[in-house]
Amino acid sequence: MKKIVFSIGGSVLVPSLESNNIKKYSSALQEIAKSYQVFVVVGGGGEARRYINAARELGIDEATSDELGIMITRINASLLMWALGDSAYPCIAKNYSEVKQFAESKKIVIMGGVTPAQTTDAVSAVLAESLGADLLINATSVDGIYSADPKTDSNAKKYDYLTPDELLSIIKDDRMVAGANNIIDLVAAKVVQRSRVPMLVLDGRNIEIISNALLNGTITGTVVSFDKKNPITR
Ligand code: UTP
Repeated sequence: MKKIVFSIGGSVLVPSLESNNIKKYSSALQEIAKSYQVFVVVGGGGEARRYINAARELGIDEATSDELGIMITRINASLLMWALGDSAYPCIAKNYSEVKQFAESKKIVIMGGVTPAQTTDAVSAVLAESLGADLLINATSVDGIYSADPKTDSNAKKYDYLTPDELLSIIKDDRMVAGANNIIDLVAAKVVQRSRVPMLVLDGRNIEIISNALLNGTITGTVVSFDKKNPITR
């Protein structure tokens, strides 16, 4: 079976606790897991940012604030794991070797953050590299990668396809602080470049975009890879 690593932003999975997308994701992932071996890295979203801001106001340093963010990613990851019931391995992996160990169960394996000074995008890129995954899907709250922030720049252009080098030149000026809200973190982009695992960045708020990509090969989003072939049907 092909291996797929998902990076699901906290703002996509749990935009708020009251109206979250856990149920939709757990049904879609169960369907996808019939055709692919599935690994999921869950982000912290707005809740992580709220804790990090509170920590910063208390004068707590960035690395320790990152630890708070990691705890929230694992709470979000646990919600998804328990919603998946028997389809998921019943423990959140804390590192990459645990993921490999848990994957022997053939169930969906879930993790959150791992270590300070990065985001779950980096975790998912490293995981994809260490598993030799066929595809990394970054489910985020924008519909792809743009030349500039489309919320503030009306001339921003969306890319259907980028090489990893082009991605790196777009994001090279992003700041790295706890809770930063960049489209893809720099570590993630560098790991995608060296691992050569194709990455698909798509709007995870619309779960059909993911199902259409994986189950019919119809891609809506930005493909980051060294060749222009469809990374799903290649
Ligand atoms: P993420 O930035 O990965 O959350 O982690 P997210 O949900 O993907 O963000 P959205 O939803 O796409 O906007 C939240 C914070 O947790 C810390 C960082 O401070 C990060 O900003 N973190 C996470 C780490 O320090 N290390 C990790 O491995 C993961």
